[in-house]
Amino acid sequence: MRFTLRPLALIGLATLATQAHAQYTLPPLPYAYDALEPVISKEIMTLHHDRHHATYVRNLNAATAELAQVFAHQGSLMDLEREIALQSAIKFNGGGHINHSLFWESLTPVSNSSFPTSGPLKKAVDSQFGSLDALKSTMTTNALGIQGSGWSWLIYHPSNKTMEVVSTADQDPVLGATPLLGIDIWEHAYYLDYLNDKASYLQHIWSGELHLLLYPLSLSAYRDVS
Ligand SMILES: [Fe+2]
Repeated sequence: MRFTLRPLALIGLATLATQAHAQYTLPPLPYAYDALEPVISKEIMTLHHDRHHATYVRNLNAATAELAQVFAHQGSLMDLEREIALQSAIKFNGGGHINHSLFWESLTPVSNSSFPTSGPLKKAVDSQFGSLDALKSTMTTNALGIQGSGWSWLIYHPSNKTMEVVSTADQDPVLGATPLLGIDIWEHAYYLDYLNDKASYLQHIWSGELHLLLYPLSLSAYRDVS
């Protein structure tokens, strides 16, 4: 299923009007570029982080800087046109920055695989999906169903303490729920290693055991899923 996104206006454009624009920075990888081999090559990780993610950050900063200039004006219709035009750039590049920042944290070398074999998370996964293998299968089916570019997510709803597998298109981030695990389904994430074989990419990335629930935002959710 597609996850419903809130309008961009609800996530802070008004706040930007009263402040200097935010400056975002490219976070370093939490491991070496070749740490995920042979599942994901050093070449892919270098391009993906240093080129793709860096470009999202650079374009996001350019767009927010321009938006700050627009907000500094009196407010002509031309300013409003510029403001509207910038929203798609902020959504795309801001989403790209959020999603990739989470993605780097959700990957880990095979040797560090740490999906818990007991405790509240294991219990919640078993309760909702039947088993970790069933969760993998559900998420793989979800990811294979994405047409074009997008992301497959395991998210957590704090309101009813349930998890759900959803997808978002392009670089849309998860909003209104806590992302626990995300898989980049853009071709740039796997093409050099797997060509157009998305299924093989997913099979191998799961065989490396993604490091579930490492996101800082998910730590409270982790304690809350029991
Ligand atoms: Fe990507």
